[in-house]
Amino acid sequence: MYEFAPDPHAPKNDVYHDLCLAARALVEGESDGVANMANVAALIWQFVPDLNWAGFYRVVDHGLVLGPFIGKPACIRIPFGQGVCGTAAASGVTQLVPDVHAFPGHIACDGASQSELVVPVLRDGRVWAVIDLDSPSLARFDAQDAAGIEALAALLAEAI
Ligand code: SME
Repeated sequence: MYEFAPDPHAPKNDVYHDLCLAARALVEGESDGVANMANVAALIWQFVPDLNWAGFYRVVDHGLVLGPFIGKPACIRIPFGQGVCGTAAASGVTQLVPDVHAFPGHIACDGASQSELVVPVLRDGRVWAVIDLDSPSLARFDAQDAAGIEALAALLAEAI
């Protein structure tokens, strides 16, 4: 059993610092990428408030395929360059979307989603996966959230 006790009122920097510590402890010594992604999706859900979807899409062949997540069932395959996730995967650049309805080509998996943050997981200069967070609140994510999830992506690069 793993017991983590995130403080919902802690400053964002502390939340992401603690999330990264917990993630590092969970993936350390474990080589199974699916297990690590599943545990990290659960950790994100536990630590980051105001989400309706949190998880991974993995790069498989020439597109993205759904990975471990928490939330409603989601679209399984996303071509590179399509939607927020496909844009992050094709560019290797974090996508911070305050209003998903204003993002051209946004793929609606859960009608509740209003804003979205997608961070690529890079290894050896190439995208291996993306971490996708959806929120039912507009403009839920800011630069601190992006930096926090980028730090998480960096520590996961060798673990997924
Ligand atoms: N909204 C994403 C699709 C994935 S779901 O949010 C889980 C996109 O536009 O790529």
